[in-house]
Amino acid sequence: MTIKFAVPVALLGTGMYVPEKIVTNADLAKMVDTSDEWITERTGIKERHIASDGEVTSQFAAKAGMEALRSAGVSPDEIDMILVATNSPDTLFPGVGPIVQNMLKATKAGACDIQAGCTGCVYAMVLASAGIGSGLWEKVLVIGAEALSRIVDWSDRNTCVLFGDGAGAVVLGVSEDKNAVLAAELHADGDKGDYIAFPGGLAARPASHSSVDAGEHFVKMKGNEVFKYVNKVIPSFLKEVCGQAGMEIKDIDAWIFHQANLRIIEGVLRRLDVPVEKAIINLQKYGNTSAASIFLALNEGISEGRISPGDKIMITSFGAGMTYGAMILEI
Ligand code: ACO
Repeated sequence: MTIKFAVPVALLGTGMYVPEKIVTNADLAKMVDTSDEWITERTGIKERHIASDGEVTSQFAAKAGMEALRSAGVSPDEIDMILVATNSPDTLFPGVGPIVQNMLKATKAGACDIQAGCTGCVYAMVLASAGIGSGLWEKVLVIGAEALSRIVDWSDRNTCVLFGDGAGAVVLGVSEDKNAVLAAELHADGDKGDYIAFPGGLAARPASHSSVDAGEHFVKMKGNEVFKYVNKVIPSFLKEVCGQAGMEIKDIDAWIFHQANLRIIEGVLRRLDVPVEKAIINLQKYGNTSAASIFLALNEGISEGRISPGDKIMITSFGAGMTYGAMILEI
């Protein structure tokens, strides 16, 4: 879509939070038939932060949200809307959004969850930008938060080595000068819904002894299908998004990919002829934190000085649905 906002939108601040407990590849090798070598070579992941007993997604979300508000110099009662992208909410309802709204005492904010697999963070950013750009809201807190470790089968080596827990957040608001959102595009390929799924426990298959016995309350993933799909679809999609902003691939200063797999990131960059140094990569420390991963990378990219004011950054993700999306922001 070509961006024609009535009101310019700015990125006002970022934040993140990860739980203290770290699980290394060596720790996993004691739990399932895997090794540090296999995980490192196939994914690039070395360790991940995992929720301890009693820790839940809303706590991570509130901490990351508070840090983003501090970095933006915005107080909770100035926020008009809280959007939380998550695939591992504390409960189906109430959503994480209203729980965080209460924790932060964001008294005038509406709040809800966005569930679009790992792409939820990009969906939430685009919806927040559209809300501000249309004049509906002035300040929106967008959070990506996960305790995915709670819905992963820790005896399934195909999935348990990939994911990590944590939260990241951004504050978007009305800009005093330029519009930061140069391009935004969201897609869904619903016919690929079986690539990543959480089949049990809800309306289609209510929780029962047999659904639990069949492990339907765990993430199921056709990893190889996801891998092939992303490599096929994402490179041309990203060229298209650049085109919408009147830009070329070489005009992007920093690339922020969903931190699912280093081989996927490197493969997409190779197809686009972009040096890997232009990508912010932190999956080695956090694993795939699903809807939080983009925000963790964005926050670290800015706080470590790898992204500077004026930079044009591409943010892109893919996930269950299959969904995918991208945004170009001028910071
Ligand atoms: N340790 C050791 N061996 C393993 C492990 C493991 N942890 N996991 C799988 N293997 C084995 C498989 O059993 C298979 O063995 P076999 O040949 O004897 O059958 C072999 O390794 C190769 O398996 P593949 O699945 O072909 O391995 P691949 O190189 O594709 O890597 C991976 C798997 C890492 C999952 C990769 O496909 C991937 O990253 N895919 C993308 C997944 C993804 O990004 N998902 C997130 C989406 S976002 C969301 O919404 C949650």
